[in-house]
Amino acid sequence: MCGIFGYVGPRSPIAVCLAGLKHLEYRGYDSSGIAGIQSGELLWCKASGKIRSLEEALEKKLLNVELAIAHTRWATHGQPSQENAHPHFDDQNQIAVVHNGIIENHQFLRNMLKKEGISFYSETDSEVIAKLIGHFYKGDLLDATQKALTLMRGFWGLAVIHKDHPGTIIAAARENPIVIGMNAQRMEGFVSSDVHALNERDLDVMFLRNDEVAVISQGKVEVFDQTSSIIQKQSEKLDLEEERASKGDYPHYMLKEISEQPETIQRAFHNRLIANFGTAEFENLTLSSADLLSVKRIIILACGTSYHAGLIAASLLEDKARIPTVAEIASEFRYKNPIISEDTLVIAISQSGETLDTIAAVREVKSKGAKVLGICNVRHSTLTREADSTLFLRAGPEISVCSTKAFTSQLTVLALFALLMARLRHMSKEEGQTFLEELEKLPALIHLILAQKEKIALLAQKYAHFENFFFLGRHYMFPASLEGALKLKEISYINAQGYPAGEMKHGPNALIDSSLVVIGMCGNERTMDKMLSNLMEVKARQGRVIALAPENTENLTEIADDILFLPKVCDELASIPYSIVCQLFAYYVAVQRGTDIDQPRNLAKSVTVE
Ligand code: AGP
Repeated sequence: MCGIFGYVGPRSPIAVCLAGLKHLEYRGYDSSGIAGIQSGELLWCKASGKIRSLEEALEKKLLNVELAIAHTRWATHGQPSQENAHPHFDDQNQIAVVHNGIIENHQFLRNMLKKEGISFYSETDSEVIAKLIGHFYKGDLLDATQKALTLMRGFWGLAVIHKDHPGTIIAAARENPIVIGMNAQRMEGFVSSDVHALNERDLDVMFLRNDEVAVISQGKVEVFDQTSSIIQKQSEKLDLEEERASKGDYPHYMLKEISEQPETIQRAFHNRLIANFGTAEFENLTLSSADLLSVKRIIILACGTSYHAGLIAASLLEDKARIPTVAEIASEFRYKNPIISEDTLVIAISQSGETLDTIAAVREVKSKGAKVLGICNVRHSTLTREADSTLFLRAGPEISVCSTKAFTSQLTVLALFALLMARLRHMSKEEGQTFLEELEKLPALIHLILAQKEKIALLAQKYAHFENFFFLGRHYMFPASLEGALKLKEISYINAQGYPAGEMKHGPNALIDSSLVVIGMCGNERTMDKMLSNLMEVKARQGRVIALAPENTENLTEIADDILFLPKVCDELASIPYSIVCQLFAYYVAVQRGTDIDQPRNLAKSVTVE
């Protein structure tokens, strides 16, 4: 997943593109580059590493160009390097291309072009696009691009320029986001992978659909279909100028976002609780009560942290609303041949709204007639345009790659949705009101968790040198264990696993010795006894045990090496405070190990490739 940006207009294209790239760095940050046209010549600059390195390179290599396209990379084909960084060029160095996505038949096309005597300098799949357009170019850039696209297989968001067309950027999309921005008065044209990177006032914005191609010039855009017939496309007026989230006084976005959770959870349920009736309502839920009542089965689709939220929601919807619900990993699901009937509701969870595996799985179930409810944190994202209705997290921009506040806001919104579905069915008003009271206690309770930061930091200091961790839990705490392990993996690069505590004796117990740390997530009253015996089994095999448990839990001292007591909360919502402890533990272990916390290696905030 990469970020592409382009600009044609009266302002400095280099400056505008660099600002755009910085908003796109969450999509990949292992190398970057920019190209533009000056007096009929193609000029470019590339750098390995973060966008800062490109800025430094540009300070030495001033490019005064009439338009520019730019790219920030997350390597798929070919290691992060100057050669593999985008833009890529044709054989004559007349055409530059920036690409987000994967050309699945790049090897076939590469061999075909090599037979034509065309040579290659990079290991990337994307270079083949520039070579192909160059191969077809006979003076008409749109025609050459269309010819190249017909031969390509895979998915792309791309932009193309040619030295002989200093006023034109060509952009194309298939299964990947491309947004065009225009302001006719200011004679400006933009292309970007993410609408929020446009960050401009008063822009006419349009999103390219699959196989549409746009020709962008100063303040004007024409869109064509695969046959190069012009398409009348609606644009929407958007004011996208938004304050770039800052870290404030925090050393990392992750710690800032962890500390925001009392407010973000409050925002997630603000104006959505109907205390008098012990139920919930959502401002932009377009599914009627009749639609919701007709639901007989729910499939939840998501990836990574969002999938863990989906697992917890599945238990809640079955427990509370008695609706058969399954959470599926989207990247697996889309290759199943799912059974979708008209009374199946699909819930797609995605913080960014751009995760390609989730989007593709949503398109798959929609092609089978399913109704899709999106749970998302980013307005105007692809998921919000694909879903029939979307519930927003209101968590504010989440910058750190390691998702924290979005996860607990997902759990809050999903808990409210499960309550709504349950109240529409068998749950009594009183039971609903009790559940709402528990929910409303969370912000204050999380302040108490955050107040234990120093204690958690000391624990992290004590255990940061261990290389293997297991997070164990039962029922609602099992997905919370998966999430705890994922946080530690993501930012401290330690091998950590989340596991159902009851499963350890069926194999993983073999891994237990004094070099293994087990974090016991004992937040569920219903399974407490079982959890304690499982931790006993770990202790008996010299494993190190850190127990997270409700205040006044007895018999822990003889089992656990270290204990962190948390305020009492109902089983259904315990994953929220217990996950925040795991977020802080992972954060402080990463601080001890000196890893790149906000932009961990090999990852990106939004995964737009398969
Ligand atoms: C979480 O910390 C990771 N960044 C990752 O697992 C993430 O949750 C996953 O890529 C899904 O992202 P989404 O919620 O934006 O779809």
